[in-house]
Amino acid sequence: MPQDKLDNIRACVFDAYGTLFDIHAPVESNAASLGEQAAPISSLWRHKQLQYTWLRTLMGKHADFRQITRDALDYAFAANGIEDDALKEKLLQSYMTINAYADAASALAAIRNSGRATAILSNGTPEMLRAACNSADLTNLVDELISIEDIAIYKPSPAVYQLAPDRLGMAREEICFVSANAWDVSGAASFGFQCVWINRFDMASERLPGCPRARIKSLAELPSLLTGAT
Ligand code: LAC
Repeated sequence: MPQDKLDNIRACVFDAYGTLFDIHAPVESNAASLGEQAAPISSLWRHKQLQYTWLRTLMGKHADFRQITRDALDYAFAANGIEDDALKEKLLQSYMTINAYADAASALAAIRNSGRATAILSNGTPEMLRAACNSADLTNLVDELISIEDIAIYKPSPAVYQLAPDRLGMAREEICFVSANAWDVSGAASFGFQCVWINRFDMASERLPGCPRARIKSLAELPSLLTGAT
């Protein structure tokens, strides 16, 4: 697929869940306990988790991402008629030590070797992001962990994306934002980042404002998209 090159990028800022970290890994690592319900539960868990971020932001009733992740799992279990508090706790614990995708570490290392900064900008709490980076061995490859908890508003509010230029001390156009969540790419591109959509889940494009500059299937494709001075 032909791609735009991204010029004069000084930092790559990554979404966390679904982009660097495998959102289906917590259920997959406990799949034996869920049988055929494993995949539908994982999908509903994620769906509800995101929905609750948007709904709570609109309602002005913030709860942190750890609580929202718990509430969404609770819903997914109830909707599937499962009552198993011990398994719920196990899944939530797995979410804290969630696996990274196989392409994450080498892409982060390549970006840093090119003289650019790396950061995560996520709905996750600082504690969740630190725990995930530590367990996936990414801590030394990420310069800044930026959590929406600083403002207690969820993506895709422009106020969230503004956290990255503020923290990194760069203009928004100098930031390449990478996400597997197409709606997150829309929000970030419409804010003014140069965006790359890693379409891990073979999704259709969103009908929303804000287009990615490039679409990739693996983070391994990212470093060669960045051109110009750092
Ligand atoms: C995040 C969610 C959107 O990490 O995946 O912010």
